Amino acid sequence: MPEMRVAVSGSGNMGQHVMAAVDAAPGMQVVGVLDGLAEAETIALPGGADVPLLHSVDGLDSLEADALVDFSNAVWTEALLPHALERGVRPVVGTTGLSDAFVDQMVEQSVAAGVGGVIASNFALGAVMMMHLARIAAPHFEAVEVIEQHHDGKVDAPSGTAMTTAREMRAARGSDFRRNVAERETLPHARAAEFGGVTLHSVRLPGLVAHQEVIFGGVGETLKLRHDSISRESFMPGVLRALREAESLDHIVLGLDRLLGLVD
Ligand SMILES: NC(=O)c1ccc[n+]([C@@H]2O[C@H](COP(=O)([O-])OP(=O)(O)OC[C@H]3O[C@@H](n4cnc5c(N)ncnc54)[C@H](O)[C@@H]3O)[C@@H](O)[C@H]2O)c1
Repeated sequence: MPEMRVAVSGSGNMGQHVMAAVDAAPGMQVVGVLDGLAEAETIALPGGADVPLLHSVDGLDSLEADALVDFSNAVWTEALLPHALERGVRPVVGTTGLSDAFVDQMVEQSVAAGVGGVIASNFALGAVMMMHLARIAAPHFEAVEVIEQHHDGKVDAPSGTAMTTAREMRAARGSDFRRNVAERETLPHARAAEFGGVTLHSVRLPGLVAHQEVIFGGVGETLKLRHDSISRESFMPGVLRALREAESLDHIVLGLDRLLGLVD
């Protein structure tokens, strides 16, 4: 079997880990990297080989890639993804901050083109399990809050994982959660953001990677679900799995949980 030719979009923290993971995975090779803000013409893979570093969306065309792994920025992803689908390149997208309308449009485009792919707000298997358990608990509790914690380089808030968790807990419950609204807020936004009655707190600090706690409140009890990505390597098994499974898909699947068969 020929090796899967993988283009990597984004050469930041996640892009570097993706390059290393794909480079080391049997049956796959990194054929090039796309990054709209980078300046160099080539980039060295951890194994030592240099591959082209391209600065425009059109750069994808020269790479003859079978698949694309994108961890970059929503502005860039919204230009690159339609282009990849038009060319039959299977996308595995982890970039967060994408609008719901854009994601829906990409699923439609993938169905029309018959191109498989995965868009997931979290590729860590433990985080996917945490979200699954939160969905199971959601119908049985009246109130819940989410505290997500990330490194201080993160540009969007709340995190994609926190938004997905809130959306899916709200859907599993079928109605908004009951939420305490402060009668008097001595500082604006002290009660944080809200979606479907779920309060969402975003912590940004150096030293953190990606962490989330979901706290359900009931009568005389609380239930806490917590996940910690202590290294960005935690996302790589999910990314490699998505790359392999996308080969046999004919549309974009949303979420690693669907790929793992945890939800329909
Ligand atoms: N789905 C997941 O499991 C998961 C896990 C971690 C991070 N992420 C997401 O992946 C993305 C990247 O994270 P990171 O930690 O590597 O960030 P980073 O800042 O280290 O890297 C971002 C990369 O995108 C490029 N970029 C930024 N703005 C751009 C623009 N306007 N046009 C073109 N390129 C641009 C930068 O040059 C850089 O290479 C973020 O959206 C983050 O939230 C997702």
